[in-house]
Amino acid sequence: MIIAIDGPAGSGKSTVARQVAAKLRFRYIETGSMYRAVAWKARQRGIDLGDRERVAEVARGLDLEFVPRPEGQSLLVDGENASPVLKDEEVGRGAAVVAAYKEVRDIMTAKQREIGRSGNVVMDGRDIGTIVFPEADWKFFLDADPAERGRRRYLELKGKNQVVDLDVIVEQVKQRDHEDRNRPIAPLRPARDAILVDTTHLRIEEVVDEVARRIQAAPAS
Ligand code: DC
Repeated sequence: MIIAIDGPAGSGKSTVARQVAAKLRFRYIETGSMYRAVAWKARQRGIDLGDRERVAEVARGLDLEFVPRPEGQSLLVDGENASPVLKDEEVGRGAAVVAAYKEVRDIMTAKQREIGRSGNVVMDGRDIGTIVFPEADWKFFLDADPAERGRRRYLELKGKNQVVDLDVIVEQVKQRDHEDRNRPIAPLRPARDAILVDTTHLRIEEVVDEVARRIQAAPAS
């Protein structure tokens, strides 16, 4: 079974996807971290992220392996646990640049399909239900008001002792949304048959319960 969970940053999709996977005892794959890995590796090699050719070359040669661990999941990039550094804001900005390249998307999409082939996976991202697995058994699209998503991001950064301004963060969230929804390839949008969940006024547990309830209530096919 393949469960696709898409949505913008701050919609709660990664936390929800991780918990749904744990509940169902499925594998969890966070595809955003794959794009982050490409940006990180390219920068490490001193490659300008505007250099599409060389960035694609990095993506092509990258060995990516998700490893479940008690404290959460790690992504091994060429054998090295890169998970902590991949969460950096700077790496995230780089990921947005490389994720807009068709060559990079084709490579990552192929890797994601390969991972999905072994089945029983919850995969989160922006284009899982539309492009990667249009035939997924379940497709969820999580969304929330930009102001609420900005507030979540603000609290997350404050929790890491970073000095941040709420209004600035909300503006950044809106800007990133605009870029993700309007890019020419694999834009962020719900699949036609996705189940839409507005998480603005919901706690994470409520969203997890709603998603798991729908899946478990469905008759076996
Ligand atoms: O979810 P995230 O912030 O880790 O994603 C990092 C970047 O990668 C973000 O700009 C969106 C992009 N991305 C994508 O284009 N397609 C995916 N399936 C996952 C992430």
